[in-house]
Amino acid sequence: MLIDLHPEPADMARLVVDGMARQPKQLPAWLLYDAEGSRLFEAICEQPEYGLTRTETALLEAKAPELAAALGPGVVVEFGAGSARKVGPLLAALRPAAYVALDISADHLAPACRALQQRHPDLPVLGICCDYSRLEQLPDHPALEGHGRLGFYPGSSIGNFDPAGARDLLRQFRRLLGPGSRLLIGIDQPKAVERLEAAYNDAAGWSEAFARNLLTRLNRDLDGDFHPDDFDYRAWWDAGQSRIAMALVSRRELTVQLAGRPWPFAAGEALITEYSHKYAPGAFLALAADAGWVGAGRWSDAAGDFALHLLVQADSEQHRSEP
Ligand code: AVJ
Repeated sequence: MLIDLHPEPADMARLVVDGMARQPKQLPAWLLYDAEGSRLFEAICEQPEYGLTRTETALLEAKAPELAAALGPGVVVEFGAGSARKVGPLLAALRPAAYVALDISADHLAPACRALQQRHPDLPVLGICCDYSRLEQLPDHPALEGHGRLGFYPGSSIGNFDPAGARDLLRQFRRLLGPGSRLLIGIDQPKAVERLEAAYNDAAGWSEAFARNLLTRLNRDLDGDFHPDDFDYRAWWDAGQSRIAMALVSRRELTVQLAGRPWPFAAGEALITEYSHKYAPGAFLALAADAGWVGAGRWSDAAGDFALHLLVQADSEQHRSEP
């Protein structure tokens, strides 16, 4: 079953106007994921320079039984499920009461839910197309009643939010999942700058195509008149902020029309398409603590490139009974 709560065109226009008025110009990262953007992102995940997805997938496969034991019973709620490939080993080991997949791209979510349902015929599967950072509550559905909730937020997608936004998102998950819930979250860790920058500047050009597709989408959905050739793609590591910044940089002074308004660009001016914040374990746990979550487990690869953190709510019984 699929519920469509995708933001309306009017909401999109408002968010785009807000983002274009910022200094620097910056749009919400979920706008990157239209049908074509979701397809391009899948290709990025397969590039040799982009190890994040492979490392996390291997970790989930290797640790699934351990993770399942630590998570306990409940309903799995995945944030940003995309093609829902990562949750497979977890579902097999956990055998949850139900699985809820949230994603902004209905085109990806529908086939993903169908495929999962085929592999797990007895599992109630519910897809919700939405901006998960704004979802107020999970729908009333008999399969979700009477079970604790286990959030699953893989891919280090929280890195798209700035630290204050990430904290708000973790608070929002806490509210949405309810008392006593847990959250298993994938976090990309800081590493050598050469490797970080290569991951977002892959030689085959998928990262660039992914960013440029945003302009195509804005032209189509919000009456934009961007000429993609007027912009260069750049991605660089900002050590001070512990993040990769990705941007389309204007090659000359120009004005684009978008959402019914003119937007001037200076020569060399950046439109930030997304940030990708990286957190060492201590930094991430401090952020989580600010949002009312406490670390209850961490699994990472041998090189320390990537970590899966298990969080429990700070006021839950489970935490209080810990030494
Ligand atoms: C899905 C946000 C985790 O930041 O690594 C990858 C998105 N953008 N290459 C990331 C992305 C360009 C990705 N996240």
